[in-house]
Amino acid sequence: MIKLLIVGANGKMGKKVRETLPSFPLVKAVCGVDLKEDLSCPDFPVYSDFSMVKESPDVLIDFSSVKNLDKIVAYSAENKVKCVLCATGYEKADKDKVLSLSKETAVFRSANMSLGVNVLLELVKNAVKSLDGFDIEIIEKHHNEKKDAPSGTAVMIADAIKTLRDGAHEVYGREGLVGARDKNEIGIHAVRGGTIVGEHEVIFAGNNEIVTLKHEALDRKIFAVGALKAAEYIAKKETGLYDMSDMINGR
Ligand SMILES: NC(=O)c1ccc[n+]([C@@H]2O[C@H](COP(=O)([O-])OP(=O)(O)OC[C@H]3O[C@@H](n4cnc5c(N)ncnc54)[C@H](O)[C@@H]3O)[C@@H](O)[C@H]2O)c1
Repeated sequence: MIKLLIVGANGKMGKKVRETLPSFPLVKAVCGVDLKEDLSCPDFPVYSDFSMVKESPDVLIDFSSVKNLDKIVAYSAENKVKCVLCATGYEKADKDKVLSLSKETAVFRSANMSLGVNVLLELVKNAVKSLDGFDIEIIEKHHNEKKDAPSGTAVMIADAIKTLRDGAHEVYGREGLVGARDKNEIGIHAVRGGTIVGEHEVIFAGNNEIVTLKHEALDRKIFAVGALKAAEYIAKKETGLYDMSDMINGR
């Protein structure tokens, strides 16, 4: 049995993880941490701070906020709790903290826990290799409560493109007299509205032809399933930093 702590247990994704747990009989949530404490929760207690945690979880899944990272790192390092980090908005300094933590315990991090998006990423890499000289633009769409922009997934896609195309660089939105498009631009556009779960579209525009690759998330459940699979995967590791491609390819 894998004992699980859910960070951000009362948020949209935390609730989805709780709903999805019955499909994962080897994983049992023992407690949660959230700004909104809920000690009367029938499933398990939700504490407002890591210092209140009495249980001894094996793995934590974080769907709270990158602002919570320092507390997560301190708690995991001290208690050797393995981490599945799903919050988005990580800067370089945050990624460095995660790398240090991965030397003390096993850490899995992905800005997108869905299988489909990770296949999209592979398709994008193939397209970049094949469609030399095509202009690349990324459009991401999310619900009106999303706090960070562009999405972690759009950043992940842009990072993958940059490893394959020399000089490629992001341009966020465009406004005013910006001049003609530089061939190395990766245009990134963030749409926010309604209840859109998450859409990512990568456009390769060439001379008189366009290739568009698109992933559409229809239910947050796909991210919860991915996070719980990652919890099962990371529970078997001692230390190290892992991502979706490690899990998909069984490394
Ligand atoms: N990796 C993925 O596949 C994936 C998918 C969906 C969402 N996300 C990310 O997960 C995060 C949460 O998304 P959501 O839609 O559930 O948001 P949400 O706002 O609905 O929920 C976040 C929860 O975390 C809690 N929280 C926020 N800051 C906290 C802190 N410092 N300490 C403790 N609890 C804190 C909030 O009280 C809230 O209950 C975001 O960063 C989002 O971008 C990632």
